[in-house]
Amino acid sequence: MIRTNHYIFNPQQNSPDSSHKYLKEIATLPFMSYMQSIVITCGIGITEILQKEIEGLGYEVVANNLSNLEIKGNLRDCMHLNLHLRTASRVLLLIKKFQAAHPDHLYQAISKIPWEDHINSNGYISVTSHIQNSYILDTRFGNQKVKDAIVDRMISQQGKRPDSGPTRDQTVIYLHWVDTDCHLYFDTSGETISKHGYRRIPFKAPLRESLAAAIIKSSKWKPGIPLINPMAGSGTLAIEAGMIACKIAPGLIRENFGFMHLKSYQEDLWIQMKIDAKKLIDKNQPQNLLVNDSSLEALRAAKKNAAWAGVESLIEFHHGDFTQVKIPEEPAVVILNPEYGERMGDIDQLIETYAKIGDFFKEKCAGSWGYIFSGNPDLSKKIGLRTSRKIPFFNGKIECRLLEYELYRGSKKI
Ligand SMILES: C[S@@+](CC[C@H](N)C(=O)[O-])C[C@H]1O[C@@H](n2cnc3c(N)ncnc32)[C@H](O)[C@@H]1O
Repeated sequence: MIRTNHYIFNPQQNSPDSSHKYLKEIATLPFMSYMQSIVITCGIGITEILQKEIEGLGYEVVANNLSNLEIKGNLRDCMHLNLHLRTASRVLLLIKKFQAAHPDHLYQAISKIPWEDHINSNGYISVTSHIQNSYILDTRFGNQKVKDAIVDRMISQQGKRPDSGPTRDQTVIYLHWVDTDCHLYFDTSGETISKHGYRRIPFKAPLRESLAAAIIKSSKWKPGIPLINPMAGSGTLAIEAGMIACKIAPGLIRENFGFMHLKSYQEDLWIQMKIDAKKLIDKNQPQNLLVNDSSLEALRAAKKNAAWAGVESLIEFHHGDFTQVKIPEEPAVVILNPEYGERMGDIDQLIETYAKIGDFFKEKCAGSWGYIFSGNPDLSKKIGLRTSRKIPFFNGKIECRLLEYELYRGSKKI
């Protein structure tokens, strides 16, 4: 494994991640030094971008699925990934994989894990799962079995048990059980890391921060190139661009992660990782980021959010109709995320808005790259320009496209 960071581990320490030996080893080797499967989840369609991010941090991706990637590593790698990844949702550290053809098999296998080595008996656990088999029809029953196995084991070993419930702010255990294949993980993120923690005021229909980062990374924008966001809402796209430009690790804004509640967690290591991440921040390079919205309320939210993210000083905030936004002479990236009409009454108004965006691109943005992020293909057609790329994404359950328009003006291109 190639590592560019200095949290380097000797591959000699790698241990097999299956076999009976594992159960014995898990009791003696803390997760801090034990190389294990780490699964990093993300929104559907984002894996390619996430893979580049993970490789950029010095890790080798060993498996690639529709909405997750796998690497080998340990708890300190999980901490590092939670701190730096922009487009991920969760960082899962494998505890054990096993076969179960019945809820009782699940219970027995989980009871054998020395939970007392990993979880505080006065702590709090939460169990989540993805279960797809005929043994369990309601995932809540599966979660209950996992929880029972853990607390029964803790009582038998320590006479005490952690509390449990749905809140994900302490130790989170995740079960993936398909047919008879079980994978049990610590969700080292706890609450999802797709939220970057700066959005104190959401305004309406905000993009998830990890999705906004993926959109920015899919566009032609690079630090130093002007980024214009004429319908900015709560400012997520420009804020993510600002954080990328200044190399602000998203995890710096957050105070609580799942890994902090494991016994192997070393606070001094986390403090050092954050110090190292802060040293990378560079706000001295000139950036040209502009947000505009017709709603003053949206702009207020965008400013507050940008301030929390530490990028307010890099962004120009404008109030007005998007058609009035001045596009710089030099080639820019112009991204709009208009509403796409979940309510019927909006559609007529939106047809007009999308047509106007097409005119705005043609008349005011020549020489730049234009982008529309939308979940409504019929409305997108009203732009009336030929796309150079259509990049698929999911916004929650809604299939969306990032449409790219190469807006020619002579030879002036990025
Ligand atoms: C879907 S929201 C954008 C959400 C944004 N991407 C975020 O993450 O918060 C669309 C925004 O476009 C703004 N808007 C609608 N019509 C506009 C217009 N004609 N000119 C400028 N802004 C407009 C709305 O006020 C709203 O904030």
